[in-house]
Amino acid sequence: MAALSDTAREKLQRLADAARNRELSECAREGDTRIIRNGKPLISFSCNDYLGLSQHEKVKEAAVLAIRQYGAGAGAARLVTGNHPLHTRLETMLACWKGTEAALIFGSGYLANIGIIPAIVGKSDLIIADKLVHACLIDGARLSGAKLLRFKHNDIMDCERLLGVYRKKHQNCLIITDEVFSMDGDRAPLAELSTIAGKHDAWLMADGAHSFSGGAAPVDIYVGTLSKALGSYGGYACAKKSVIDYITSRARSFMFSTALPPSAIAAAIAALDIRMENPSLALRPITNARIFTARLALPEAQSPIVPLVLGDETEALTAADVLAEAGYLVTPIRPPTVPEGTSRLRFAFSALHQEQDILAMADLIKNRGWITQKPLDRHAAND
Ligand SMILES: Cc1ncc(COP(=O)(O)O)c(C=O)c1O
Repeated sequence: MAALSDTAREKLQRLADAARNRELSECAREGDTRIIRNGKPLISFSCNDYLGLSQHEKVKEAAVLAIRQYGAGAGAARLVTGNHPLHTRLETMLACWKGTEAALIFGSGYLANIGIIPAIVGKSDLIIADKLVHACLIDGARLSGAKLLRFKHNDIMDCERLLGVYRKKHQNCLIITDEVFSMDGDRAPLAELSTIAGKHDAWLMADGAHSFSGGAAPVDIYVGTLSKALGSYGGYACAKKSVIDYITSRARSFMFSTALPPSAIAAAIAALDIRMENPSLALRPITNARIFTARLALPEAQSPIVPLVLGDETEALTAADVLAEAGYLVTPIRPPTVPEGTSRLRFAFSALHQEQDILAMADLIKNRGWITQKPLDRHAAND
């Protein structure tokens, strides 16, 4: 057997040959949309801090105060001694925000999904997931041991077809979708999915990591993150109390992992307060995304995420380099994050972006002729 270091080197080379190797860059945020990447100042269009709340003075102050009062870390898992009263406070706020009976905070959105799915379905069950759901939902589905089928992206008829053929052969059935698709920016038809879930005796789970709207979603379990629009770190689930109580006792990523530090929870509480007190804040990222799509005559943005599909990996890498040269940070997205042949630039708009920066970047893109968007193969697998 070869030494691990040799095997790793060889496999890395194969990834590099396919332009699929990934490397870390040092990125230091500067308080708004400015970022220093590897020493170069850029305007970031790649942060998921949609409302700019990670940089808000009140949010930062809340985190600092919590560290001063309670220390830097939680000290244990929540079921041991890590369940600080701030967790209860934030869970009450989240349940109220999403119109559910209860909520449960996890270490991250990823941990929430890989813990919840295996807690609620198993070997005798069926999972039907949209083709473009986030990788952590697929990881959770695989961990569960349930039979996993994928329906064509946002295609209710295909979802119903699969339910018709396979539902009766399994005990329980869970339909899984993103609410806002992370690499495409479009939204799932939650109301229609909920109707067919009811018709076929299935449960519906939606991941709203890239959403920041309040109010009840027509789903059995709603998963979200504290790490994007709320500017902090962590994940959460909202559902009926019995579901949350059951997950608390069964989700392994919850049971066997240290609680979030009180500072992350305090920051999320401050951010959620700001979000609830300023409904108009939530309009700004999407308004900015629409300034961009209008300038480029792209389909109107449905969320703050706008993809510009370029094709193969090198096209996306080169385009990102051109934008960086001009002062804009737009991370290229390649397989396996997106399906083969749909490498892209993914623009994430924030409440803090300035119109003149958006327009200047859009004009550069127009001048480079990248706007002959290749149609998305929305049905290709992305796992
Ligand atoms: C749709 C979706 N779900 C879950 C996650 C994971 O959330 P977190 O970053 O809190 O682990 C992400 C993160 O990129 C995501 O895009």
